[in-house]
Amino acid sequence: MTNHSQSISLTRYLIEEQRAGRINADLRLLIEVVARACKTISIAVGKGALGGVLGDAGTAGEASINVQGEAQKKLDVLSNEILLEANAWGGHLAGLASEEMDTSQPIPDVYPRGNYLLLFDPLDGSSNIDVNISVGTIFSVLRAPDGVTRAKDEDFLQPGTAQVAAGYCTYGPSTMLVLTVGNGTHSFTLDREIGSFVMTTRGMRIPEETKEFAVNMSNQRFWEAPMQRYVSDLLAGKEGPRGKDFNMRWVASMVADVHRILTRGGIFSYPLDSKCAAKGGKLRLMYEANPMALLVEQAGGAASTGRQRMLEVQPDGLHQRVPVFLGSKLEVEAAVRYHAEHD
Ligand code: AHG
Ligand code: MN
Ligand code: MN
Ligand code: MN
Repeated sequence: MTNHSQSISLTRYLIEEQRAGRINADLRLLIEVVARACKTISIAVGKGALGGVLGDAGTAGEASINVQGEAQKKLDVLSNEILLEANAWGGHLAGLASEEMDTSQPIPDVYPRGNYLLLFDPLDGSSNIDVNISVGTIFSVLRAPDGVTRAKDEDFLQPGTAQVAAGYCTYGPSTMLVLTVGNGTHSFTLDREIGSFVMTTRGMRIPEETKEFAVNMSNQRFWEAPMQRYVSDLLAGKEGPRGKDFNMRWVASMVADVHRILTRGGIFSYPLDSKCAAKGGKLRLMYEANPMALLVEQAGGAASTGRQRMLEVQPDGLHQRVPVFLGSKLEVEAAVRYHAEHD
C-alpha cells in the first residue's frame, strides 16, 4: 500500500520536473489543464446512465459519423468538447487535433497562443461505455515548428520521438493518470476527496518477459501470415515452440489493456488484418499508438508496427492508422522476428 504521506501530487511532480529543467512552465501548465479536463470527463463518465451521457450521439435515426467512419457516442462528443474548452484560453497551444475532428483546430483569436501542439483521443474504448467497462482519454504533446502559432495539419506530422509529453487517463474502478515527460512513466490516482491526482507509482516498469497476450482473436482468419504463425506458436503453449503457456486478456479499450501491461507486463497487438489493411490498420498513430509507445518505452518496454519502431514512423496524415505491437520488450521482439523472418 503506498504511504500517501510520501506521495506527491501531480502539481508537485511537474514543479520538480520544471526545477530540474526537463520541462518549462508552459508545458507544466498545459499538462495541468489536460489533467483538469480529464477530471471533468471522469465525473461525466462516472454518472453513467444517470448523467444522460450514454448511447449514440446525433438525432433519432441520424447517427453522428466521425472522420473515422465511426458512429460517435455522446461521450465521444462531450469529452472532445471538454478538452477543447479547457485548452482554448490557456495560452499554451498553437493548435489541437482530435480523433473526433476532421482537421486540426487553431486557438480562437480572442485567446493568446503558445508553442505546443496537443493531440488527443478524447474517449478511447467508446464501444465499452454503454456496458460500463473502463474507458480512457489519450493525449500527446508536440512542439509547434519555430514561429508557428496558428498550426496547420502538416505541422502535427512529426514522428513519435518528437513528443515532449504523452499520457492517458483511465476511468476505471479508480481514475488514474499515467504520464511521461521523457523522464520515466509515472502513475497518479485521483483522490476524489481533495480533487487532485496523487502519485501512486514513480517509475512504472514493464517486465521484459510475459505470459499474457492481448489481441482480438476474432480477427485471426484475416491476419497476415507472420501474425498467424506468431499466435499459433504462442497458443501451442509449453509443448509448442514457445515452451510456455500464455494467458489472454482483451478489454477492447486500448487504455485499459495498455494500463494492465504497464502494471504487470504483457504484449498488446492490433495487427494488420485484411479488413483494415487498406486503411493501414485499426489504431491511429498520432493519438493512440505514439503516446502509448512513448509511455511503454519510458517504462522499459517496446513498441513496433511489427516492422519498424513505432516512434520512428514518419506520419503522412493526422488520422493515419498503423499496426501495433507493444509491451514486454522480449515478447515484442519475438513478434517482430516472426515478421522479419517472413518478409
Ligand atoms: P476508440 O474507442 O477511441 O475509437 O478506440 C477503440 C480502439 C481501441 O481502444 C481498442 O483497442 C480497439 O479499438 C478495439 O477494437 P475492436 O473493437 O476491433 O476489438
Ligand atoms: Mn472512436
Ligand atoms: Mn481510441
Ligand atoms: Mn476515441
